[in-house]
Amino acid sequence: VKNIGILCSGGDSPGMNCAIRAVVRTAISRGIQVTGIKRGYAGLLRGEFMQMNLSSVGNIIQRGGTILQTSRSPEFQKVEFRKKAVDILRAQHIDGLIIIGGDGSFNGAMALWKEHQFPVVGIPGTIDNDISNTEYTIGFNTAVQTAIEAVDRIRDTAHSHARTFLVEVMGRNSSAIALKVGVCTGAENILLPHDKVNHQKLVDDINRGIARGKESSIIIVAEGPVAGRSYDIQHVLKDMYHLDAHVAILGHIQRGGSPVADDRFIASQMGNMAVEALLGGNVPSVTVVQKGKVLMTDLANCTTKADHNYIEYSGLAETLSI
Ligand code: F6P
Repeated sequence: VKNIGILCSGGDSPGMNCAIRAVVRTAISRGIQVTGIKRGYAGLLRGEFMQMNLSSVGNIIQRGGTILQTSRSPEFQKVEFRKKAVDILRAQHIDGLIIIGGDGSFNGAMALWKEHQFPVVGIPGTIDNDISNTEYTIGFNTAVQTAIEAVDRIRDTAHSHARTFLVEVMGRNSSAIALKVGVCTGAENILLPHDKVNHQKLVDDINRGIARGKESSIIIVAEGPVAGRSYDIQHVLKDMYHLDAHVAILGHIQRGGSPVADDRFIASQMGNMAVEALLGGNVPSVTVVQKGKVLMTDLANCTTKADHNYIEYSGLAETLSI
């Protein structure tokens, strides 16, 4: 491998820049060229390239988002567009590709390998922490920390006014953010993405808390398939149970911001290891965290979603919020 292409795909996450920096610096230290591909697979199909050098990744380790930008590309799910992508990569003399993204992005990468034997290495980057066979995805801890700080502030107001708040956190298919934030903020209830809401139980829990002297209730609602589901819950609580709840949707605030130490540290290791994997011919592969260690595994192990990472903590949250 003489020229590595690198792109980010799917939702951005804090720490992606740390991984890009590690890839560029490791590759250059090994005498390998790096080509940045802008705006993910969509940018690849449009030939949006930028040559990376040591200083193009200077002063980015602390910045959220991704300097390469990103996108979700429906076109890339089609075989003819993947063929076009490989033709473009080869014309650009790129002979290995590093993809930072989620399971959907890894599926695209896997197809490049299967259909064209194009060498690919994945780095898990999504705030959702929902990829199979890795305990961690870059950006998760920063997103959780951001959400915790927001909920702590909301709790101040909730307590001062003796209110109930529905706080909606991100996670279309993933429970991880909701559960970790819920445990860490002492939430009275946590509603997971695909939970059928039991309004009666919610109201009973809130009223039990009030009866034992609680001045506020925080219910963490995972976004689920359609952001804004908290408003539906709010309406039912009001109309059927005469219970007033305020809604706060944290939204994309959780995706931005300066990465916390864990995200920087893990992303730096993953970027470094991804280059070594490409150079060593260990493809198609992906960097993962297993038993707390960053290591490589087959890419095929990480092409599905996993919502198991945090589900075991739902019992803890319930016990502690009594
Ligand atoms: O990247 C993951 C994620 O932030 C999910 O938590 C969320 O449900 C979704 O992306 C939102 O996507 P978009 O930014 O495209 O609205």
